[in-house]
Amino acid sequence: MYGNYDGENKLPEFDIYVGANFWSLVKFRNASEQVVLEIISIAQSDVIYVCLVNKGSGTPFISALELRPLNSSIYNTEFGESASLLLFERWDIASSALNGSGRYVDDIYDRIWSPYSSSTWDSISTSSAIDVNTDGYRAPSEVIKTAARPRNGSDTLEFSWSSNDPSWKFYVYLYFAEVEHLKKTQLRKFNVSWNGSPLFEPFVPSYLYATTLSNSKSLVANEHRISIHKTADSTLPPILNVVEIYVVRQMDALPTFEQDVDAVMDIKEDYRVQRNWMGDPCEPKNYSWEGLKCNYSTSFPPRIVSLNLSSSSLSGIIASSISNLSSLESLDLSNNTLTGSVPQFLEELRSLKYFVDDQNLSNSDTSNKNKVVVPIVASVLSVLALLVVFILIWKLRKRKQSDEEINKPNKEGRTVASKNWQYTYSEVLNITNNFEMVIGKGGFGTVYFGKMKDGKQVAVKMLSPSSSQGPTEFQTEAELLMTVHHKNLVSFIGYCDDDDNKMVLIYEYMANGNLKHYLSDINPDCLSWEKRLQIAIDAAEGLDYLHHGCKPPIIHRDVKSANILLSEDLEAKIADFGLCKVFGNDKQNAEAVVMGTTGYLDPEYYKLRHLNEKSDVYSFGIVLLELITGRPAVLKGKILMHILEWITHEVERGDLSRIIDPRLQDKYDASSVWKAIGIAMACTASTSIQRPTMSVVLAELKHCFKMDLPSQNHIFVDSRPRQSYTEFYSSSEPYSMDSDSITHPFPR
Ligand SMILES: *[C@@H]1O[C@H](CO)[C@@H](O)[C@H](O)[C@H]1NC(C)=O
Ligand SMILES: *[C@@H]1O[C@H](CO)[C@@H](O)[C@H](O)[C@H]1NC(C)=O
Ligand SMILES: *[C@@H]1O[C@H](CO)[C@@H](O)[C@H](O)[C@H]1NC(C)=O
Repeated sequence: MYGNYDGENKLPEFDIYVGANFWSLVKFRNASEQVVLEIISIAQSDVIYVCLVNKGSGTPFISALELRPLNSSIYNTEFGESASLLLFERWDIASSALNGSGRYVDDIYDRIWSPYSSSTWDSISTSSAIDVNTDGYRAPSEVIKTAARPRNGSDTLEFSWSSNDPSWKFYVYLYFAEVEHLKKTQLRKFNVSWNGSPLFEPFVPSYLYATTLSNSKSLVANEHRISIHKTADSTLPPILNVVEIYVVRQMDALPTFEQDVDAVMDIKEDYRVQRNWMGDPCEPKNYSWEGLKCNYSTSFPPRIVSLNLSSSSLSGIIASSISNLSSLESLDLSNNTLTGSVPQFLEELRSLKYFVDDQNLSNSDTSNKNKVVVPIVASVLSVLALLVVFILIWKLRKRKQSDEEINKPNKEGRTVASKNWQYTYSEVLNITNNFEMVIGKGGFGTVYFGKMKDGKQVAVKMLSPSSSQGPTEFQTEAELLMTVHHKNLVSFIGYCDDDDNKMVLIYEYMANGNLKHYLSDINPDCLSWEKRLQIAIDAAEGLDYLHHGCKPPIIHRDVKSANILLSEDLEAKIADFGLCKVFGNDKQNAEAVVMGTTGYLDPEYYKLRHLNEKSDVYSFGIVLLELITGRPAVLKGKILMHILEWITHEVERGDLSRIIDPRLQDKYDASSVWKAIGIAMACTASTSIQRPTMSVVLAELKHCFKMDLPSQNHIFVDSRPRQSYTEFYSSSEPYSMDSDSITHPFPR
């Protein structure tokens, strides 16, 4: 409530954001109006920012902010975790409360309820307790025990609302509980429709037992009218106990690049910056922190490109945290009392274009002019030094290569001489244009975009210098990897090992990035079910080749959606295979050091430290679940939940529409999806002996694909009860080759 607290008598108008996402416009009709906004949102990280944005129409303010934890099994939408629900109305129908909106002690979610009634309704209620415990929505007893029914028994119960914006997507939650004890001859049964089309099956409320019904697809229209009318065989009029109406808000804006956030937070702390630096540095878009400029793109997080801390009373030395702003192009530190010399890291900022030197910087006895020159001279010197080193290495390399050319016979199976795979570091610099563009980061190092002399696009992986391995072993392993070829493995183009610390692998470039990114909500293109199956088959082919087509077999050890890359025409290829070998872990080592990624790591391998190909099968199963559900391996909610835990529960419920990626809508063949779920569950069995080999997985997936072809749908409708399915994946029998052993429940 504004209450003219500032004496300006001007009603402010401002925006409110949750993190980087728009929540609502805040507007007051008069100084005493109380505006209360409510949103149901899934936290994307440990910290939630609520941001009030000054749009130049008055100073934003807030009187109270409350947070309530909510069970994630309720208030779900077809849009998954990226969607939030904004409260539109919450009505306690035919309320017994006399004095307006309020809360109830027994409401575990602490909602604010508003009384609502109509002159054409009668109210009925009960003094008995109503069981709300099995209905997740848990309406408080004062609210659920009152209901409305039409005064004229044959009439329809109706309520309506209009949308402020015709594109708004609505969800209604209707709560019902029978409050009258019916005689044997009586029946209360009704239909619920929205703008004339039925929303649910005919419904009979249970006596003293709450049930909540909600639309499964969002409601979009200018005007909305919900009608509840009795069925022909019903002897009693319809009732309605509670109504909630929500609007969907898509929450898909990306927060600022995490490393940039950490860096700028450190800078804020180091210098005790006296500015209103709160919330996300770059978001909301075009309202970045004072003194920051950000670069926005559609599919990547915003990056900080400019930092202006001029005239900010900074003192001390130049903080090293600035160097962590790796996309910084402009830095202004003028008119502060900074001391000490210009640190080297400023020269290393890859794309730094602009640097305003400070009066107090550098030694006090040199002139101002000299100081500006310091970083430039220093850079020139270091470039010269590097050049000298490069020339030396290049000379050595040249000689070594010509020796090799003479000494090395062309081994069988190698069509290309090794020298063609070997690149010098300066060539790598050329290819990547001085490591200009980062296209990915993984456990083994950073990946840069590159272009070969002939224009071919490549991905250049700079391995982290943590390896204990010398260049010779690296070379041996790298050359071995060059001999592994399969259409579903990302192919190697070459490597560079000029220096112990600079091991570089060059791969073919995959235009559509990795599967994890492609599947995420960030990507507006939704993969069809057939495409998803095709990707699974491609990846399975690649893994099967590593396991059974290579001698000795290669166990990937880090199968995950981020390691499955997609070509221009969405062909999937496995990346990063053999890197454990490149890192020189011999067999004993391999078993001592558990490698892998949280969410994908085989629990058996983790416990027993005994590595075998079935660990890859487990991880592949998780990827398959991601493809089916569109959800990540670890579900982020109030509590983190592994996808397997979630899906096991959902499979027991048997409602495919809750499992499948909601973006697929209903464009899929249910039996094909159930079968794919069965395969994923088999892959992720708790012991490796129960899991199928990749060859079996591959065969089963191909079977799934055939089922999905429309002409064959009818052949595969399976009417066996769900039981057989549950038995199947929880059985302790080893998985068999028999394709009939994967059954699926009857699609509901
Ligand atoms: C302020 O606006 C609200 C909502 O329109 C209204 O209920 C209230 O009576 C108004 N108060 C005054 C003092 O005008
Ligand atoms: C930094 O901000 C000051 C004003 O605060 C301005 O005069 C200066 O030009 C800015 N520097 C850059 C590089 O934009
Ligand atoms: C330098 O900063 C001080 C505040 O720290 C400010 O008062 C002064 O105007 C600034 N000078 C210039 C030239 O920007």
